[in-house]
Amino acid sequence: MEALSKQEFARRRARLMEDIGDEAVAVFVGPPPRPRSNDTSYPYRPSSDILYLSGFHEPQAVLVLAPGHDDGEFVLFAPDRDPKVEQWEGRRAGPEGAVEDYGADAAFGLSELDEELPKWLADRKRLYYTLGSDDDFDERVVGWIQELRHRRHGVSGMPSAVVDVRDLVYTARLTKSDEEIEILKKACQISSQAHILAMQHCRPEIYEYELQALLEYHFRQQGGEGPAYPSIVGAGDNATILHYTDNKSRIGADDVVLIDAGCEYQYYAGDITRSFPAGGTFSPAQRDIYQAVLQVQQAAIGDLEPGFSYEELQANTRRRLTEAMVDLGLLTGSVEQLVEEEKYRDYYPHSIGHPLGIDVHDVGLFRTSEDESRIFRENMVMTIEPGLYVPASDESAPEEMRGVGIRIEDDVLITASGTENLTAHCPKAVDDIEQLVGSADRSALPG
Ligand code: GLY
Ligand code: MN
Ligand code: MN
Repeated sequence: MEALSKQEFARRRARLMEDIGDEAVAVFVGPPPRPRSNDTSYPYRPSSDILYLSGFHEPQAVLVLAPGHDDGEFVLFAPDRDPKVEQWEGRRAGPEGAVEDYGADAAFGLSELDEELPKWLADRKRLYYTLGSDDDFDERVVGWIQELRHRRHGVSGMPSAVVDVRDLVYTARLTKSDEEIEILKKACQISSQAHILAMQHCRPEIYEYELQALLEYHFRQQGGEGPAYPSIVGAGDNATILHYTDNKSRIGADDVVLIDAGCEYQYYAGDITRSFPAGGTFSPAQRDIYQAVLQVQQAAIGDLEPGFSYEELQANTRRRLTEAMVDLGLLTGSVEQLVEEEKYRDYYPHSIGHPLGIDVHDVGLFRTSEDESRIFRENMVMTIEPGLYVPASDESAPEEMRGVGIRIEDDVLITASGTENLTAHCPKAVDDIEQLVGSADRSALPG
């Protein structure tokens, strides 16, 4: 199983410590488990920043980076070891494991936070921390600073400024290392294969959730954590609902099925959308929409290269899709004016894509902190996902196009000279997907 090396995490911490400097300290806090029903919780998802900086994945961990600190510059606070709790909830690394397995210079139980953490805040001028994400922890941070102030009788000896740590970490996370790219490739490979399986096993009259089950079986069977986000399997008009996750309808013979699903592998997301005819052949109108989206998607991938801006990519895609809407008879008028008036939003209400990584909508904002458009650089990974969605209720659209939703989404690595499509093994040409749909032996899977 592919996994990130300890050196990779050490490199990431070293970079952040260099960025903040040795007069500062950075503190990251993991979220608490979220209740799902009565006394059961949702599966725990660790803080993406703590995962990025250490790989540590236990609940409510606190990670501290204090460059050059005498008592250790990388400190982890981990859930306390407790045989009684571990008998119910599973094994914990504890402080010893945090040092041995995760490379912390010093580690403590969470019960020791109040006692120990202020030692790493003392004598640091700036605290890099994200206020406003966890009210309880914010209060504790303020309490520790107050305590230091009282103890030291003055204004020095404690952080006098709190700086949002996200800008630095997000900028680092936006560009992927060689090791990260290998893991992302694996997430994309599993996701691609899952889509192929779903296409092969699709046939009219089965339920959307049967395809969801097949996708998610494959994610787990291949060693992934599971879906990187709630799987969307929408047939017919359901495909025109962008975040449709009910997945409960029966698939009709004339439906286009839209599947947006990706595997999380080693906490990295794949994110693929394919749209295909449930009966194995697109109707002429469905095919026209499909081909239009595919052409726009290929053109957008063609635009990507180092130096190109996110804003230009957005603008190009909106223009191309508006042209397609006019050609298809969905909109009438001059393309320029329709773009100006944002009429494309009726059929294309989302954006062209997003960075991909530990979060499916990965960090690394579209605008920089200086409010400039983000420029693509080598080793960023972006999804490219144009779509056209014509609701069944849209009486202004040609009748044969109503109730059709099509999105095509690939995960694309930006290289020195252009791009590498990490999900290229998932077919998207009309002939290829028509051949694939329904081609599996029906008895190949249980049920
Ligand atoms: N699956 C979420 C998205 O495509 O952005
Ligand atoms: Mn998606
Ligand atoms: Mn996406």
